[in-house]
Amino acid sequence: MKSMKSNETIAIGRLFESNFIEILNLYSNGKIGVVCDENTQTIAAQMIQKLHLIGKTNIYQITLPSGEQHKNLESLSSVWQQLTENNFTRKDLLINVGGGVITDLGGFAAATYKRGIEYINIPTTLLSMVDASVGGKTGIDYQGFKNQIGAFHLPKGVYVDPEFLKTLPQQQLLSGYAEVLKHGLIADANYWEYCVFTPFLEVNWNEVILKSIEIKNGIVSQDPQEIGLRKVLNFGHTVGHAVETYYINHGEELLHGMAVVVGMICEAHISFQKGNLGQIQLESISKSLSSRYNKVSIKESCFPEILQLMYQDKKNNSKGINVTLLNDIGSAQFDGLATEEEIYQSLHYYGTIKS
Ligand SMILES: NC(=O)c1ccc[n+]([C@@H]2O[C@H](COP(=O)([O-])OP(=O)(O)OC[C@H]3O[C@@H](n4cnc5c(N)ncnc54)[C@H](O)[C@@H]3O)[C@@H](O)[C@H]2O)c1
Ligand SMILES: [Zn+2]
Repeated sequence: MKSMKSNETIAIGRLFESNFIEILNLYSNGKIGVVCDENTQTIAAQMIQKLHLIGKTNIYQITLPSGEQHKNLESLSSVWQQLTENNFTRKDLLINVGGGVITDLGGFAAATYKRGIEYINIPTTLLSMVDASVGGKTGIDYQGFKNQIGAFHLPKGVYVDPEFLKTLPQQQLLSGYAEVLKHGLIADANYWEYCVFTPFLEVNWNEVILKSIEIKNGIVSQDPQEIGLRKVLNFGHTVGHAVETYYINHGEELLHGMAVVVGMICEAHISFQKGNLGQIQLESISKSLSSRYNKVSIKESCFPEILQLMYQDKKNNSKGINVTLLNDIGSAQFDGLATEEEIYQSLHYYGTIKS
């Protein structure tokens, strides 16, 4: 396994063919709760079986229903309940095996149970490998708002096995790839070029995952609590989260990454309107993203509701709607303030793009 230096231990490699199980065993002398969902329970069970083989008992599998609509208080409460019923103490450990829903929710359960216990993430989607499982942001959705309740709580370790991507549906892979592209746009033009021009089937996942984690960690380690710099990672997410929430609130499904792609195009356009980003760069970004991603339908009549959702964004202050702006491909600036007019213009622009 290849490891990376950071506040959390981050390692990438074949988990079940290495000394990973022995490493896991070092994290806890006590009980282990393994949080997974319906689609990752087989990986979780495989890991538990291997832990049993080295004499580790007292392991409790907590399987939740899958999907963003279950990243809620009910699922969280069910984790708290099972930890309580099985007498977990502050010295015990949680291991989250799953996509971003499981790592966010399991991480928040760990942050809150008995004022905080340790946890480890084993991400199984591309999105959670390159983004959600690292950096310590945990939380759940609440009353129709994304990640409304949460805490910063770093995992002790993140163990990534790209093999798990083999069972991931193509749309989920594409959704995760949006965050990869975001890392290129905000921090590294060469990486953006590689990701945009390499056909999907030829992408070297080990390298891409490592590079993306490196970019994210490089930023998070300088600003763990998101006082300033870390906000650049939210590029595409002010508009993206609002569009995602709009879809959820209307009972329709839109994967996180697909909403972030809409957000990245809109926020690149806002950067252009403000004079930060050139027209050539804007058009190159829009063209590259829209050639890979289907157009999301956003009718003009939905704009006011989407705008209202943006006012809920945690990055806002009293002055207006906070967006991350691009100065160029590979360079971003946090704490831009977008006017309602600029946001409307950007949504109009998105509507004019051909996919
Ligand atoms: N904490 C952060 O910093 C951060 C960053 C980005 C996103 N997020 C959050 O991550 C969530 C989205 O994560 P996601 O896209 O991983 O969604 P997800 O966890 O819902 O996973 C997507 C689907 O894939 C299934 N799945 C997982 N692994 C699989 C595998 N190996 N094979 C087959 N199916 C598998 C899941 O059961 C689910 O149905 C959002 O809630 C978002 O807010 C958090
Ligand atoms: Zn995201």
